[in-house]
Amino acid sequence: MSHADDHQGTRRDFLYYATAGAGVVVTGAAVWPLVNQMNPSADVLALASIRVDVSDVGPGTQLTVLWQGKPVFIRHRTGAEIQAALADDEIVESLPDSDSRNLNLSGEALATDENRTLASPEGEGAGAWIVQMGVCTHLGCVPLGDGAGDFGGWFCPCHGSHYDLSGRIRRGPAPQNLEIPPAAFIDNTTIQLG
Ligand code: FES
Repeated sequence: MSHADDHQGTRRDFLYYATAGAGVVVTGAAVWPLVNQMNPSADVLALASIRVDVSDVGPGTQLTVLWQGKPVFIRHRTGAEIQAALADDEIVESLPDSDSRNLNLSGEALATDENRTLASPEGEGAGAWIVQMGVCTHLGCVPLGDGAGDFGGWFCPCHGSHYDLSGRIRRGPAPQNLEIPPAAFIDNTTIQLG
């Protein structure tokens, strides 16, 4: 899927990068119509977990990796992004989806910013990292990132779903927040998915 030269997909957030996993660096189209059309190879699907080196992902940027055949957004948020996300915690119970949708949490948990972000590595402030499936919960398109949409987070252009800086659905037909996959820092610069 090396279409970088003839698509707009040269942006940082569409660089697929995984270590000790698929071992591939691929750039892709800005929008894939449906994830289930990607036809991931069997070896990619078989990867139960991958480790991602995020040492080059500075504040305000994000990386997209392919895990189990689906894109995962890993964003390193700025202080301003964190503050904006935290401010919206006050209205979390009135949002379209108030569930954290975080597979790392057991039981029901509110979609507060804390419940949707990754425990940060040593030396970083809370909420600096958010890891979520890059799959719109409406019909599976891959949302655009880097502040896209009306809420500064992600925007799915397929039918107009706007997600905020915590990946919470705020407007549009998507019924749920972007899903948080199993993810954890295993050292200061490495995130394990799965
Ligand atoms: S698939 Fe994202 S809005 Fe429809």
